[in-house]
Amino acid sequence: MTVAGIDLSNTEFWSLPLPERAAAFALLRAQPGPPFFAEPETPFAEPGPGYYALVRYADVVEASKQPEVFSSAKGATSIPDLPVEFNEYFGSMINMDDPRHARLRRIVSRAFSPRLIAKFQEDVQRAAAKVVDDLLAAGPCDFVASVAARLPLKIICDMMGIRDDQYEMVLANTSIILSGADPEFVSEDLDQAVLQVLGAGQALADLLTGLAAARAESPAEDLVSALVTANIDGEQLTAAELASFFILLVVAGNETTRNALSHGLMLLTERPDQRALLLADLESRLEGAVEEIVRYSSPVLFMADPHPRLHHERA
Ligand code: HEM
Repeated sequence: MTVAGIDLSNTEFWSLPLPERAAAFALLRAQPGPPFFAEPETPFAEPGPGYYALVRYADVVEASKQPEVFSSAKGATSIPDLPVEFNEYFGSMINMDDPRHARLRRIVSRAFSPRLIAKFQEDVQRAAAKVVDDLLAAGPCDFVASVAARLPLKIICDMMGIRDDQYEMVLANTSIILSGADPEFVSEDLDQAVLQVLGAGQALADLLTGLAAARAESPAEDLVSALVTANIDGEQLTAAELASFFILLVVAGNETTRNALSHGLMLLTERPDQRALLLADLESRLEGAVEEIVRYSSPVLFMADPHPRLHHERA
């Protein structure tokens, strides 16, 4: 393997066996500076000027501390800049720098009161126990559909106050938003695919608007109630901020955890020695195992921070 033969923009790279990818990253880390890649073809935008991949931990930490150089607010955390139409639904805190980012974090974090967190903890335990009970009753099944997709969806929907009969709609729309043009979820016709992604954003925003109106009238013990009724020091989310935060939470929370859980089962199946180690002392080893599964499977492969100089070159 040579550095020139590695292309992080090529989806085929990501389906290589893990030892090969690990060897590729070891090679990239050994280079004197960050490697540069051309941007992948995407249906949503013209390919941009390319990007540097920060493959060393220290470089990522350094970049995270310099928003004036590595901004989250320009473009988006995707490699290509998204069309401006997407901002309405997807222009949430993850695509902002301070002070706008800090303001949203402040309002949102106050909604997570200790009382609400304690309730969520109980809800999560109950939801997990139910998933396992159903699994025992149903027997062999598709783990992704019955466990990995179901658990985070149920937890996030409960947290928000979304009704059980709306779960399917939430799952379908979040899958479309994060499909990355996967023909399993969106049309191969590009214009059509953009419309489908915008439609999914609109459907989730409509769901939130209905829910927010109901909770403003009669609050319940859920996050949407806390967010619509919270008014701390005169600060409150606008309707658009609330909708895009809601979309970010359901999208970010579903896909990541679904992938981590699926990878977890696969890793423990492929490595019975590790499984035995974990089961031998579940109580004290579970936390480390979760960290290691997330590190190993990397459910989020990258976050892009457009660099102003590259943007300038493009213009
Ligand atoms: C294994 C699971 C997860 C992984 C690997 C993951 C990964 C990430 C990463 C890499 C970021 C970007 C951080 C940055 O910009 O510096 C992020 C941001 C975010 N994630 Fe997650 N995430 C996971 C689970 C979740 C869950 C379950 C939720 C919600 C219920 C969630 C909600 C968010 C939100 C709201 C942000 C934006 C935070 C901000 O901009 O301040 N994530 N996540």
